[in-house]
Amino acid sequence: MDRIPVILDGDPGHDDAIAWMIAAASPMLNIKAVTTVAGNKDIENVTRNALNVCSLFGIDAPVAKGAHGPLVVEGITAGDFHGVTGLDGADLPPSSKILSKDSAVELMVKVIEESDEQIVIIGTGAETNLAALLLYRPDLKGKIKACYLMGGGIGTGNWTPAAEFNILVDPEAASIVFESGVPVVMSGLDVTEKALIYPEDVDRIRAIGTQVSNIVSNWLDFFGATHAALGYKGWPLHDPCAVLSLIKPEIFTIEDAYLQVDKNGIHTRGEVLADYEDRDRLNGKVVLNLDRQAFVEELIKAVEHFTDGEV
Ligand code: RIB
Ligand code: CA
Repeated sequence: MDRIPVILDGDPGHDDAIAWMIAAASPMLNIKAVTTVAGNKDIENVTRNALNVCSLFGIDAPVAKGAHGPLVVEGITAGDFHGVTGLDGADLPPSSKILSKDSAVELMVKVIEESDEQIVIIGTGAETNLAALLLYRPDLKGKIKACYLMGGGIGTGNWTPAAEFNILVDPEAASIVFESGVPVVMSGLDVTEKALIYPEDVDRIRAIGTQVSNIVSNWLDFFGATHAALGYKGWPLHDPCAVLSLIKPEIFTIEDAYLQVDKNGIHTRGEVLADYEDRDRLNGKVVLNLDRQAFVEELIKAVEHFTDGEV
């Protein structure tokens, strides 16, 4: 089977790390590069986390540091929602990864230019790096097959009543990506707030009994505690939806749509709007629902991929 060449771009973050684990375990994907963007934490923390996560899951692709903040406005972060380090809850083995000397955009350009096939970008943070790439090298647009991203939410938000965090960090960047002509497959809160992991699911992961299962279950314990404090009964695994909608679309409900980002609303800045009717200007798809049990089984299958002999 020809593997899909992908670039992972995110702000690890517990759910980014788990999404990248699923990508690393998938025989369908060929991870060509990993790039970081400030969001959950500042760029230094998320980049250190990215190196540690790639080392843990044996992702041998280059890792490059990306945007320290949004294209235009002052950056926001998620504070200590993911802990002081941005990936609290588990001690990881020392990383064997060395950071690339390239910036995220430079590495993206190299990978896309050198590829014989179109590249899929899997975005699980703000869209700043991809937007910068599109501004810097619009000629490469045709070599980007699609952007599968976690972000947005139709009629809902988690950072404001209207806006989801990844989009709100950099609405200008998200708008550039959505309007670029690169097809977008958006896993927004519509589906990710249904991609819930419950304590009994975490127990199944811990019972696998490997180093990776121990780390992932400890991550989920930490991620769960921050959500439980907000009243959640299950922990929404946002970012894995961006990976699984690419490799297991059959477990999701996905609709064609024209997606727009509000940049100027006083109360709605960062909101993503979906028009399902105007078929003449479709620019992407929205992932709206999922088979949660199948989602959990994919997560467990990915954890089981990493036996102790390999890590
Ligand atoms: O709103 C959820 C998104 O914001 C996830 O990608 C999480 O990692 C944070 O980046
Ligand atoms: Ca993220």
